[in-house]
Amino acid sequence: MEPKANPSENEIKDAAIALKEGKLVAFPTETVYGLGADATNEKAIHRIFSVKNRPTNHPLIVHISSINYLDKWAIDIPGYAVKLAREFWPGPMTLILKRSSLAKNFITGGQDCVGIRVPANRIALKLLTHFEQLGGEGVAAPSANRFGAVSPTTAESVSHELKSHLSLDDLILDGGQSEIGIESTIIECLSESPNILRPGFISKEIVEGVCGMLHLRSTESLIKVPGLMFSHYAPLAEVVLDTSASPGDGFLAMSEISTPLGAIRLGAPTTIEHYAKILYSALRMADNKRLNRVVVIQPSGSGLALAIRDRLSKAAAR
Ligand code: TXA
Ligand code: MG
Repeated sequence: MEPKANPSENEIKDAAIALKEGKLVAFPTETVYGLGADATNEKAIHRIFSVKNRPTNHPLIVHISSINYLDKWAIDIPGYAVKLAREFWPGPMTLILKRSSLAKNFITGGQDCVGIRVPANRIALKLLTHFEQLGGEGVAAPSANRFGAVSPTTAESVSHELKSHLSLDDLILDGGQSEIGIESTIIECLSESPNILRPGFISKEIVEGVCGMLHLRSTESLIKVPGLMFSHYAPLAEVVLDTSASPGDGFLAMSEISTPLGAIRLGAPTTIEHYAKILYSALRMADNKRLNRVVVIQPSGSGLALAIRDRLSKAAAR
């Protein structure tokens, strides 16, 4: 299945019908591309796990078109979570909430909580709205990559990565390059205050602006988040952080840092936002060029820079 570039209203409607029929639809979001399936259809969800080669106890995020659908999937929603949802949805934020009976074990990995997000992308929102108009309740969508690999930020990367695993009647919607480029901030909302499980564009400082100071808690016993696992977001090339590059190495750093002699420049972002946007395509480029090693000079600072360093440390873990 070739990606459908700039899908028309009718093509997005057809994709919603395909989801309702149990097919898989990869679609753009503002963070990364997702591989979507009807979140109430166990068979379709099983296909997501097999296409991604992902262990089935790893929970999936359910995508909905607006906060109005939140009550279907979650119960006992704390006031601060409603505040966060009102403030940042549609947007790059996933809330982990106590699940309703609609969120089955095949979505939550057997846990009592469910991840919910309203993505801020025109095509994604149209797809979700059409799906809901057909009676759908929500679309489960992990990042559209093979398990442990780099998340795709273009439709071509989705196609390159998953083509041989998808069926002919699955679909890929092409919405161009993802605007943000790294996955949503995941915020656990199961106790009296929020807890950030995966950093992202919505930073700790931004969350604190809405909820007050956050105290870091250990969540390891409370919840399992495979995105927090050791090696993740990794290209085939070895990723080495903050070291000197040798001739033939790939090299990624902010634009003001010059390219070491003989190294192959994979990106020269001018801002932290730009760094996040090109990060995964730069790592993919290393594999396309069949490089053995990529040297990455990490960005400094808090906020989005911290989220970038989180992904890089996992990409570098072996
Ligand atoms: O930006 C994103 O979040 C993208 C786009 C497509 O929305 N999705 C994404 O999904 O990154 P995925 O599956 O690649 O990563 C989701 C992370 C996983 O680490 C998963 O374990 C965690 O969210 N997660 C999902 N549901 C959860 C739950 N009920 N409890 C704890 N963690 C959960
Ligand atoms: Mg992922």
